[in-house]
Amino acid sequence: MDVVEAGVLVVGATGAIGGQTAGQLAESGAATALAGRNRDRLKERASALGGSPWRTFEAHDLDSCAQLAPWAKATLGGLDVLVVAIGVAGFGSAVEVPDTSAEHLFTVNALAPMAVVRGSLGVLSPGGVVAVVTGEIVDRPARGMADYAAAKAALATWLGVAGREARRDRLEVMDVRMPHLDTAFAAHPAVGTAPALRPGSDPVEAVHEHIVLPILHALGR
Ligand SMILES: NC(=O)c1ccc[n+]([C@@H]2O[C@H](COP(=O)([O-])OP(=O)(O)OC[C@H]3O[C@@H](n4cnc5c(N)ncnc54)[C@H](OP(=O)(O)O)[C@@H]3O)[C@@H](O)[C@H]2O)c1
Repeated sequence: MDVVEAGVLVVGATGAIGGQTAGQLAESGAATALAGRNRDRLKERASALGGSPWRTFEAHDLDSCAQLAPWAKATLGGLDVLVVAIGVAGFGSAVEVPDTSAEHLFTVNALAPMAVVRGSLGVLSPGGVVAVVTGEIVDRPARGMADYAAAKAALATWLGVAGREARRDRLEVMDVRMPHLDTAFAAHPAVGTAPALRPGSDPVEAVHEHIVLPILHALGR
Protein backbone atom coordinates (compact mmCIF):
# COMPACT_ATOMS: atom_id res chain seq x y z
CA MET A 1 0.00 0.00 0.00
CA ASP A 2 1.21 3.52 -0.75
CA VAL A 3 2.37 5.61 2.17
CA VAL A 4 0.38 8.80 2.60
CA GLU A 5 1.09 11.65 4.94
CA ALA A 6 -2.47 12.75 5.32
CA GLY A 7 -4.59 13.85 8.25
CA VAL A 8 -7.64 11.57 8.27
CA LEU A 9 -10.85 11.68 10.29
CA VAL A 10 -12.92 8.48 10.43
CA VAL A 11 -16.45 9.04 11.71
CA GLY A 12 -17.98 5.73 12.79
CA ALA A 13 -14.58 4.32 13.74
CA THR A 14 -16.33 2.11 16.32
CA GLY A 15 -18.11 0.19 13.54
CA ALA A 16 -16.90 -2.67 11.36
CA ILE A 17 -16.30 -0.61 8.20
CA GLY A 18 -15.04 2.51 9.97
CA GLY A 19 -12.68 0.53 12.22
CA GLN A 20 -11.27 -1.38 9.28
CA THR A 21 -10.85 1.83 7.26
CA ALA A 22 -9.05 3.59 10.11
CA GLY A 23 -6.71 0.61 10.56
CA GLN A 24 -5.85 0.34 6.87
CA LEU A 25 -5.29 4.10 6.44
CA ALA A 26 -3.15 4.24 9.60
CA GLU A 27 -1.11 1.32 8.23
CA SER A 28 -0.57 3.31 5.04
CA GLY A 29 1.02 6.12 7.06
CA ALA A 30 -1.93 8.46 7.63
CA ALA A 31 -2.42 10.34 10.90
CA THR A 32 -5.87 9.26 12.04
CA ALA A 33 -8.43 10.90 14.31
CA LEU A 34 -11.39 8.76 15.34
CA ALA A 35 -15.00 9.62 16.11
CA GLY A 36 -17.74 7.29 17.34
CA ARG A 37 -20.61 6.92 19.77
CA ASN A 38 -19.42 4.06 21.99
CA ARG A 39 -16.74 5.58 24.23
CA ASP A 40 -15.14 2.33 25.39
CA ARG A 41 -14.80 0.85 21.90
CA LEU A 42 -13.51 4.17 20.57
CA LYS A 43 -10.82 4.34 23.27
CA GLU A 44 -9.77 0.75 22.49
CA ARG A 45 -9.50 1.43 18.76
CA ALA A 46 -7.59 4.66 19.30
CA SER A 47 -5.15 2.89 21.56
CA ALA A 48 -4.74 0.01 19.05
CA LEU A 49 -3.67 2.62 16.49
CA GLY A 50 -0.94 3.91 18.78
CA GLY A 51 -2.93 6.63 20.55
CA SER A 52 -5.05 8.32 17.87
CA PRO A 53 -7.01 11.32 19.12
CA TRP A 54 -10.71 10.47 19.55
CA ARG A 55 -14.02 12.19 20.18
CA THR A 56 -17.53 10.93 20.86
CA PHE A 57 -20.67 12.25 19.21
CA GLU A 58 -24.34 11.32 18.83
CA ALA A 59 -26.06 11.39 15.44
CA HIS A 60 -29.17 13.06 16.86
CA ASP A 61 -27.03 15.99 18.02
CA LEU A 62 -26.30 17.50 14.60
CA ASP A 63 -24.12 20.23 16.13
CA SER A 64 -21.85 17.53 17.57
CA CYS A 65 -21.64 16.04 14.06
CA ALA A 66 -20.75 19.37 12.46
CA GLN A 67 -17.98 19.98 15.01
CA LEU A 68 -16.06 16.77 14.21
CA ALA A 69 -14.06 17.96 11.21
CA PRO A 70 -13.01 21.30 12.77
CA TRP A 71 -11.91 19.36 15.88
CA ALA A 72 -9.89 16.89 13.77
CA LYS A 73 -8.24 19.69 11.81
CA ALA A 74 -7.19 21.45 15.02
CA THR A 75 -6.01 18.20 16.61
CA LEU A 76 -4.09 16.81 13.63
CA GLY A 77 -2.81 20.19 12.39
CA GLY A 78 -4.67 19.76 9.09
CA LEU A 79 -7.39 17.60 7.57
CA ASP A 80 -7.03 15.96 4.15
CA VAL A 81 -9.50 13.08 4.30
CA LEU A 82 -12.90 12.55 5.91
CA VAL A 83 -14.49 9.09 5.98
CA VAL A 84 -18.07 8.74 7.24
CA ALA A 85 -19.24 5.19 7.99
CA ILE A 86 -22.17 5.60 10.36
CA GLY A 87 -25.59 4.12 9.90
CA VAL A 88 -28.28 1.89 11.31
CA ALA A 89 -30.43 -0.71 9.56
CA GLY A 90 -34.22 -0.84 9.69
CA PHE A 91 -36.61 -3.51 8.47
CA GLY A 92 -40.35 -3.70 7.92
CA SER A 93 -42.85 -2.91 5.20
CA ALA A 94 -43.57 0.74 4.45
CA VAL A 95 -46.94 0.49 6.20
CA GLU A 96 -45.48 -1.05 9.38
CA VAL A 97 -42.50 1.18 10.19
CA PRO A 98 -43.48 3.75 12.86
CA ASP A 99 -42.78 7.41 12.12
CA THR A 100 -40.44 7.61 15.13
CA SER A 101 -38.33 4.80 13.62
CA ALA A 102 -38.40 6.49 10.20
CA GLU A 103 -37.19 9.71 11.84
CA HIS A 104 -34.37 7.81 13.57
CA LEU A 105 -33.34 6.06 10.33
CA PHE A 106 -33.27 9.34 8.41
CA THR A 107 -31.29 11.10 11.15
CA VAL A 108 -28.57 8.46 11.52
CA ASN A 109 -28.33 7.48 7.84
CA ALA A 110 -28.81 10.87 6.18
CA LEU A 111 -28.98 14.02 8.33
CA ALA A 112 -26.01 13.16 10.58
CA PRO A 113 -23.60 12.22 7.74
CA MET A 114 -24.73 15.38 5.90
CA ALA A 115 -23.97 17.49 8.99
CA VAL A 116 -20.53 15.88 9.34
CA VAL A 117 -19.70 16.55 5.68
CA ARG A 118 -21.14 20.09 5.78
CA GLY A 119 -18.89 20.80 8.76
CA SER A 120 -15.87 19.53 6.83
CA LEU A 121 -16.19 21.39 3.55
CA GLY A 122 -14.79 24.64 4.92
CA VAL A 123 -11.88 23.04 6.77
CA LEU A 124 -10.52 20.31 4.47
CA SER A 125 -7.24 21.13 2.74
CA PRO A 126 -7.39 21.84 -1.01
CA GLY A 127 -7.13 18.49 -2.83
CA GLY A 128 -8.90 16.83 0.10
CA VAL A 129 -11.22 13.85 -0.11
CA VAL A 130 -14.55 12.99 1.50
CA ALA A 131 -15.74 9.35 1.36
CA VAL A 132 -19.19 8.55 2.72
CA VAL A 133 -20.57 5.01 2.85
CA THR A 134 -24.08 4.80 1.41
CA GLY A 135 -24.61 1.30 -0.01
CA GLU A 136 -25.67 -0.66 -3.06
CA ILE A 137 -29.21 -0.39 -1.73
CA VAL A 138 -29.31 3.05 -3.37
CA ASP A 139 -29.23 1.32 -6.76
CA ARG A 140 -31.32 -1.70 -5.71
CA PRO A 141 -33.84 -0.68 -3.01
CA ALA A 142 -35.32 -3.85 -1.55
CA ARG A 143 -38.80 -4.63 -0.25
CA GLY A 144 -38.99 -4.46 3.55
CA MET A 145 -36.35 -1.71 3.67
CA ALA A 146 -38.15 1.33 2.24
CA ASP A 147 -37.17 3.76 5.00
CA TYR A 148 -33.53 2.68 5.23
CA ALA A 149 -33.22 2.70 1.42
CA ALA A 150 -34.88 6.12 1.14
CA ALA A 151 -32.53 7.60 3.76
CA LYS A 152 -29.46 6.26 1.95
CA ALA A 153 -30.83 7.52 -1.40
CA ALA A 154 -31.37 10.97 0.12
CA LEU A 155 -27.77 10.97 1.36
CA ALA A 156 -26.52 9.83 -2.06
CA THR A 157 -28.39 12.62 -3.84
CA TRP A 158 -27.08 15.21 -1.39
CA LEU A 159 -23.50 13.93 -1.81
CA GLY A 160 -23.81 14.15 -5.60
CA VAL A 161 -24.77 17.81 -5.50
CA ALA A 162 -22.35 18.72 -2.68
CA GLY A 163 -19.57 16.99 -4.61
CA ARG A 164 -20.24 19.07 -7.73
CA GLU A 165 -20.26 22.24 -5.63
CA ALA A 166 -17.04 21.26 -3.80
CA ARG A 167 -15.01 20.83 -7.00
CA ARG A 168 -14.39 24.58 -7.11
CA ASP A 169 -12.43 24.14 -3.84
CA ARG A 170 -10.56 21.14 -5.31
CA LEU A 171 -12.33 18.72 -2.98
CA GLU A 172 -13.49 15.28 -4.10
CA VAL A 173 -16.66 13.83 -2.57
CA MET A 174 -17.09 10.04 -2.96
CA ASP A 175 -20.36 8.19 -2.53
CA VAL A 176 -19.25 4.66 -1.55
CA ARG A 177 -22.01 2.28 -2.72
CA MET A 178 -20.68 -0.56 -0.59
CA PRO A 179 -21.98 -4.08 -1.38
CA HIS A 180 -23.49 -6.26 1.36
CA LEU A 181 -20.67 -7.31 3.73
CA ASP A 182 -20.16 -10.00 6.28
CA THR A 183 -20.54 -7.68 9.32
CA ALA A 184 -23.09 -7.61 12.15
CA PHE A 185 -24.73 -4.46 10.72
CA ALA A 186 -28.10 -6.10 9.91
CA ALA A 187 -28.17 -7.93 13.25
CA HIS A 188 -28.88 -4.81 15.33
CA PRO A 189 -31.51 -2.84 13.41
CA ALA A 190 -33.34 0.17 14.81
CA VAL A 191 -36.64 -1.47 13.88
CA GLY A 192 -37.80 -4.88 12.67
CA THR A 193 -35.79 -8.02 12.07
CA ALA A 194 -33.45 -8.78 9.20
CA PRO A 195 -34.68 -11.33 6.67
CA ALA A 196 -32.35 -14.19 5.72
CA LEU A 197 -29.58 -12.41 3.82
CA ARG A 198 -27.20 -13.90 1.28
CA PRO A 199 -23.60 -14.20 2.52
CA GLY A 200 -21.76 -10.87 2.41
CA SER A 201 -18.36 -9.96 0.99
CA ASP A 202 -15.22 -9.90 3.11
CA PRO A 203 -15.10 -6.51 4.93
CA VAL A 204 -11.29 -6.30 4.88
CA GLU A 205 -11.10 -6.69 1.11
CA ALA A 206 -14.17 -4.55 0.46
CA VAL A 207 -12.88 -1.65 2.57
CA HIS A 208 -9.56 -1.83 0.74
CA GLU A 209 -11.18 -1.89 -2.70
CA HIS A 210 -14.06 0.55 -2.19
CA ILE A 211 -12.63 3.06 0.32
CA VAL A 212 -8.87 2.92 0.89
CA LEU A 213 -7.65 2.50 -2.70
CA PRO A 214 -9.95 5.21 -4.12
CA ILE A 215 -8.81 7.61 -1.37
CA LEU A 216 -5.12 6.91 -2.02
CA HIS A 217 -5.75 7.32 -5.74
CA ALA A 218 -7.55 10.64 -5.22
CA LEU A 219 -4.81 11.97 -2.95
CA GLY A 220 -2.21 11.14 -5.57
CA ARG A 221 -4.02 12.86 -8.41
N1 LIG B 1 -22.26 -3.94 6.54
C1 LIG B 1 -22.82 -3.89 5.35
O1 LIG B 1 -23.17 -4.92 4.73
C2 LIG B 1 -23.01 -2.55 4.68
C3 LIG B 1 -23.25 -2.53 3.30
C4 LIG B 1 -23.46 -1.30 2.68
C5 LIG B 1 -23.42 -0.14 3.45
N2 LIG B 1 -23.19 -0.22 4.79
C6 LIG B 1 -23.16 1.03 5.54
O2 LIG B 1 -21.91 1.18 6.16
C7 LIG B 1 -22.05 1.90 7.40
C8 LIG B 1 -21.34 1.14 8.51
O3 LIG B 1 -21.74 -0.21 8.51
P1 LIG B 1 -20.99 -1.31 9.42
O4 LIG B 1 -21.14 -2.60 8.73
O5 LIG B 1 -19.65 -0.80 9.80
O6 LIG B 1 -21.99 -1.32 10.66
P2 LIG B 1 -21.67 -1.20 12.24
O7 LIG B 1 -20.50 -2.03 12.60
O8 LIG B 1 -22.98 -1.46 12.89
O9 LIG B 1 -21.27 0.34 12.44
C9 LIG B 1 -22.26 1.34 12.53
C10 LIG B 1 -21.62 2.63 12.96
O10 LIG B 1 -22.64 3.64 13.05
C11 LIG B 1 -22.54 4.24 14.33
N3 LIG B 1 -23.84 4.71 14.82
C12 LIG B 1 -25.01 4.04 14.81
N4 LIG B 1 -25.97 4.80 15.40
C13 LIG B 1 -25.36 5.95 15.80
C14 LIG B 1 -25.81 7.12 16.48
N5 LIG B 1 -27.09 7.27 16.88
N6 LIG B 1 -24.92 8.11 16.71
C15 LIG B 1 -23.62 7.98 16.32
N7 LIG B 1 -23.13 6.90 15.69
C16 LIG B 1 -24.01 5.90 15.43
C17 LIG B 1 -22.01 3.16 15.25
O11 LIG B 1 -21.48 3.78 16.41
P3 LIG B 1 -21.27 2.97 17.81
O12 LIG B 1 -20.77 1.59 17.43
O13 LIG B 1 -20.22 3.80 18.49
O14 LIG B 1 -22.57 2.94 18.48
C18 LIG B 1 -20.96 2.54 14.33
O15 LIG B 1 -19.78 3.30 14.35
C19 LIG B 1 -23.56 2.07 7.59
O16 LIG B 1 -23.91 3.34 7.12
C20 LIG B 1 -24.18 1.05 6.67
O17 LIG B 1 -25.40 1.49 6.19
C21 LIG B 1 -22.97 -1.40 5.43
